[in-house]
Amino acid sequence: MRNLLFFIALVLPALAMSQSKSDGKYDAFILTPEPPLTPRITGPVVFGLRPGSPLIFRIPCTGERPIKFTARNMPEGIFLDEDNGILSGVVNKPGSYSLTLTASNKQGSVSRKFTLEVGDKLALTPPMGWNSWYIHYNRISDKTMREAADQMIASGMADYGYQYVNIDDCWMMKLKSKDPDLNGKRRDSQGRIIPNKRFPDMKGMADYIHSKGLKAGLYISPGRYTCAGYEGSYKHEALDAKTFADWGYDFLKYDWCSYGKVAGKKSDPDYYIRPYRLMWNELKMQDRDIVLNLCQYGMGNVWEWGGEVGNCWRTTGDLGLAHRNNLPGFYSIGFSNAGHAEYAQPGAWNDPDYILIGWVGNANKMAEGKPTDLTPWEQYSYMSMWSLMAAPLIFSGDMAKLDKFTLNVLCNHEVIDVNQDPLGKQAILQEKTDQKFVMVKPMIDGSLAVGIFNTGNEIQKMNISWKDLGIKGEKQVRDLWRQKDLGKYTKDFSTEVQAHGVSLIRIY
Ligand code: GLA
Repeated sequence: MRNLLFFIALVLPALAMSQSKSDGKYDAFILTPEPPLTPRITGPVVFGLRPGSPLIFRIPCTGERPIKFTARNMPEGIFLDEDNGILSGVVNKPGSYSLTLTASNKQGSVSRKFTLEVGDKLALTPPMGWNSWYIHYNRISDKTMREAADQMIASGMADYGYQYVNIDDCWMMKLKSKDPDLNGKRRDSQGRIIPNKRFPDMKGMADYIHSKGLKAGLYISPGRYTCAGYEGSYKHEALDAKTFADWGYDFLKYDWCSYGKVAGKKSDPDYYIRPYRLMWNELKMQDRDIVLNLCQYGMGNVWEWGGEVGNCWRTTGDLGLAHRNNLPGFYSIGFSNAGHAEYAQPGAWNDPDYILIGWVGNANKMAEGKPTDLTPWEQYSYMSMWSLMAAPLIFSGDMAKLDKFTLNVLCNHEVIDVNQDPLGKQAILQEKTDQKFVMVKPMIDGSLAVGIFNTGNEIQKMNISWKDLGIKGEKQVRDLWRQKDLGKYTKDFSTEVQAHGVSLIRIY
């Protein structure tokens, strides 16, 4: 009886609420179970910051609100907002600080270890967040950015570890623009960059994002102009780094664009690395931590040196919405990214570009968004590949039009755990044939995360053997999308995989 009352009083309204968000189309394909009402702390278990830099970290946690947060063993200088679960402050002494975070609500309580690594490394797990490009292009404004931060909280994405709210191109003044919003002095008399009129208060915008416990990101090019023709940082790198830090930004995407015009001779061994080394060194001199995302489409084998001058680097051209070789483009971009697995490690990640699902626009036309034409199973494959490849998980669709299916793809904590695993290994492409490929990622607890993908147009029975995985004996297999144990297997594992779909499992 008590159980029944509990169900009527608490579970039913929660189910109804989550269903009202849905556009219904793909509901039958939802695999991620609803989170329980009891608290569950999710997201990264480790976070890197530099001594003396301000920390802002909202503890990702699902469960019925209100939740009360407490923490044990907080280093000196760190404070916890117990109602919102936001850690902030400054640690001056380098070290590895192991905290115990606790979240409690009416339904129960949960604790989890969380390590603050105060040292010289940032992005110890792949950055997670949202970027404005593939939905707002040159239409982006201060208002839309603030709304995106609101939606990151309201949609629940922040409860799974999404934390960066990043503006892409088009916040600066634009050369020769006829649009009165974009046409004006590009820098002041001291050389300080002037945002365009859609961004009246860059600092206020970052403060607003921080007030939610989230982090703010922005974009510029080392060239004279960005890819969309807006003001770049060329010859203003030191001042721009300082300005971004003064404004309070936490993430910089640094996009090659027009830099080729000023880069000098390709025979110069530093041709590709120079602009990034310059900005990296400038950022290091600031009194806040700014994660540096190299964007130069994989030129000069960036994976070989990107980790010396940045935290993540795009390995390919723009992903976009186009299909390649009769398959959605994320497959071929993913395969090429998979070839650089050996270079990924905590603080340094291969970046195959954004998660383009939900409502997204076509970059070539800077088009208005529309619902993705990827099938549900393609979307599971996409998110599984990016998670296995320890890729930055940056969604770039419309935050205002998140439906229930899209959120089920973005917000499965067991899938995200694969991405955020502190060992920081990128999956290797273990097997690839015409209609099948297998990605394998070693996890810190000794288990393996394995994706068995079907690129054929029919459902197929697929198999992986322990021999191929280099393991022996009886193993527990868990289906990560369904969050369900599948049982014990001793030699191999077989399963049906849907057309363009995946079986994402963890083998313990
Ligand atoms: C390049 C980048 C994209 C985006 C645009 C902005 O094409 O690769 O991700 O930032 O520039 O103009």
